[in-house]
Amino acid sequence: MGIGSFAHLEHSKCLTTPTELFDIAIVGVPFDTAVSYRPGARFGPRAIRQASSRQTSFRGFNPRANINPYQNWAKIIDCGDIPVIPVDNAVALRQMTEAFTELGSRAPLSPLLQKPRLITLGGDHSLALPALRALKTIYGKPLRVLHFDAHLDTWHPAKYPNSWPSDQAHFNHGSMFWLAGNEGLLVNDTSRPSVHAGLRTRLSGTSWGDFDDDTAQNWLRVVADDIDDLGTAGVVKTILDAIPADDPVYLSVDIDVLDPAFAPGTGTPEPGGWTTRELIRILRGIEGLNVVGADVVEVSPAYQGRGEETALAAAQVVYEILSSVVKRGMLEMGKEGGAELGQEVKDEL
Ligand SMILES: *[C@@H]1O[C@H](CO)[C@@H](O)[C@H](O)[C@H]1NC(C)=O
Repeated sequence: MGIGSFAHLEHSKCLTTPTELFDIAIVGVPFDTAVSYRPGARFGPRAIRQASSRQTSFRGFNPRANINPYQNWAKIIDCGDIPVIPVDNAVALRQMTEAFTELGSRAPLSPLLQKPRLITLGGDHSLALPALRALKTIYGKPLRVLHFDAHLDTWHPAKYPNSWPSDQAHFNHGSMFWLAGNEGLLVNDTSRPSVHAGLRTRLSGTSWGDFDDDTAQNWLRVVADDIDDLGTAGVVKTILDAIPADDPVYLSVDIDVLDPAFAPGTGTPEPGGWTTRELIRILRGIEGLNVVGADVVEVSPAYQGRGEETALAAAQVVYEILSSVVKRGMLEMGKEGGAELGQEVKDEL
């Protein structure tokens, strides 16, 4: 079985090896002290790596994407975990921000990329805040987010039950996009919204106020039930109509977007979600997007079944994201086969 790196990729302790260069890095963040319900996502990176052990570069061709992301132009490595302290979230937030910024600022190996791409294994969802802070520093401009989740995560921190206002309480896994918006990390232009997909959360109080707050923060919503009316193709079209393929986007996948039947191993499960196959299909449909960073978060393996279904789904999502990033790179490179693939991507769009 070998050492437990993601998909048996070459492993480097990148943070203590500044000379290590890559195009795409898998980075674990074993952090879960900003959660509101069940803890345990600190063990997510290890579980996802273990569940990826049947992924190899040898048998890595993705028939849905017509590409083997592990045998192509990109050097993909597993950078190990960012060290995060579990008893002081202010320090943990700094640790994550500095690590994402340093790794994401390195020179990529391929001349194709302006900057390398980080794909983060969570960890709880609050890590999207330091990831977005780093991307703002690296690219010097705000980004949009494509967010797969049962929940909004744009909640004002004071909307939590039993909340006492404090800086630390504000940094939690349901408010990080509210914080990111307030910090100017997200595009704030109604013609260029960020997008949620897979929502089915209950809302505060007696009406739609949470949705109104979300709209005011420049988010567009695809709810879980939309898939019954639109199908996966319609969900894809809604996303692509909102986010053009050239706009840089941060792709954030909370595994609780899946129904608890498919992903019970998570901190805040919500019945009535998408199947793993539907999510894969949607991810394939959006493969042309310009993903500059991504995370797969909220895998809390203590609550998953013995068959590791939740971590397996997360490892598959990582594989699909890798396939898309590598495929888009091929297209841009005009490499052999890239032109045809490019046409295919355009036809699909
Ligand atoms: C975003 O734009 C809206 C409308 O112009 C404005 O009311 C709001 O304050 C802006 N938010 C931020 C964080 O700049």
